[in-house]
Amino acid sequence: MKGPKVYKNFINGEWVKSRTNKTFENINPANTDDVVGIFQQSDARDVNDALNAASEAYKKWRLVPAPKRGEILYRIAQRILKDKERVARDMTREMGKVLVETRGDVQEAIDMTFYMAGEGRRSFGQTTPSEMPSKFCMSLRQPLGVCTMITPWNFPMAIPSWKMMPALILGNTVVIKPATDTPLSVANLVQIMHEEGLPAGVVNMVTGSGGAVGMPLIRDKRVGCVSFTGSTDIGRKISEACAPEFKHCHLEMGGKNCIIVMDDANIELAVDGAVWGAFGTTGQRCTASSRLIVHKKVYNKFAAQLVERTKALKVGDGLDKTVQMGPAVSESQMNSVLDYMRIGREEDRAKLLCGGGRFTGGKYNKGWFTMPTIFGDVVPGMRIFHEEIFGSVTDIIPARNFDEAIELANNCAYGLSASIYTQDINRAFAAMRDVYTGIFYVNAPTIGAETHLPFGGTKHTGNGHREACVQALEVFSEWKSVYIDFSGTIQRAQIDNQ
Ligand code: UN1
Repeated sequence: MKGPKVYKNFINGEWVKSRTNKTFENINPANTDDVVGIFQQSDARDVNDALNAASEAYKKWRLVPAPKRGEILYRIAQRILKDKERVARDMTREMGKVLVETRGDVQEAIDMTFYMAGEGRRSFGQTTPSEMPSKFCMSLRQPLGVCTMITPWNFPMAIPSWKMMPALILGNTVVIKPATDTPLSVANLVQIMHEEGLPAGVVNMVTGSGGAVGMPLIRDKRVGCVSFTGSTDIGRKISEACAPEFKHCHLEMGGKNCIIVMDDANIELAVDGAVWGAFGTTGQRCTASSRLIVHKKVYNKFAAQLVERTKALKVGDGLDKTVQMGPAVSESQMNSVLDYMRIGREEDRAKLLCGGGRFTGGKYNKGWFTMPTIFGDVVPGMRIFHEEIFGSVTDIIPARNFDEAIELANNCAYGLSASIYTQDINRAFAAMRDVYTGIFYVNAPTIGAETHLPFGGTKHTGNGHREACVQALEVFSEWKSVYIDFSGTIQRAQIDNQ
């Protein structure tokens, strides 16, 4: 019988085995009998090979005219579009989310690649008058060299593309370490990039653990920028590792995002939004709606409808068309979510309204299926109010009035996304102004960001950078201000024109 396919690292335009001769299995979280692929368990030696290739390729790639780089990105985008179904299916198999959502993930990669391809003819700087006569001033972006990316498993193709495409269009080269749970989606992307004409060494992929691959990749002096999406704890370590060399460092970390439901809200719409925001992607989004702050007047009605809708969700294998919520990505992720369900049950005043465990029996025994879970009467001070769970758990939090709702919304270490359901335009605008997050929605849940707006968050969610949109170009470039004096004389700024 043919065994599962063995995937290799991608270094200098070739698929190569790790120097360790060790591998790991990529397992389908909906069916642990299904081994999706065998991947390289690499170490610092492979990282070194990839960095050599990326440093060498940078010498030529930075000189390729940006519109030409853009043409390659256009071809890549078109090819991902063509292969969308295949790569989406692979993604559902390797990380579990339902097929409509993995198609969305791939679409987000397509959108970002087209968007950044267009930057090949833009990447605008400024021209501006000089204070001196016969002198010309402009600012322009210059690439950094080798950029490294450490990417998560929840958006296995979208997030790598958010990081790689802006880096590449600016003339940087890339080494990416995909999450160990989802290396196949990045391997698929890298293969497409290679086949559509990206020169050897411009993109390299090394698979393996954070300790053995991630850290050497971050620490190496040849690296100009590190871009990471993941937990706040790891983000802090990465930030510290980048600090001694003052490396550019982009961090996109946790969230504990809230939906505020006011007493004048369209409750059916708010319930729709909460179900999608809380349990879409099995709650495994940085943007997931994990706190539902509900006005007391509509609390009971909202809670009753939400519980009914949540109990009706069909949980199972994401490749089954009728399934609405897939499994947790791995056994350890499931156990961490189950722990939070236990912690919630042990809170004095929180009420478990539905769910609270894992599904067992029949096919469920072959996967990591957690129940969609709602806790009611949640208040500040409870761990489930403050901590990111990253799974199928959400809280309902009562609020007496608008001001208290805003206060509860801001009572959070993170600041990624928030939303309000109301029919009152004044409240909508006041909330938009007063909730301190990087993303805000009105009459929509906290998920659903588009690639041509900045993506990222305040407080412990980020370190001031943004992905997507033109803002994504910032971290992958340095500005250069250029002064061209064509007066033929010495001109002294700030002195001759006093
Ligand atoms: C994430 O949660 O890690 O806005 C990314 C959204 C998606 C991206 C989420 N477009 O929910």
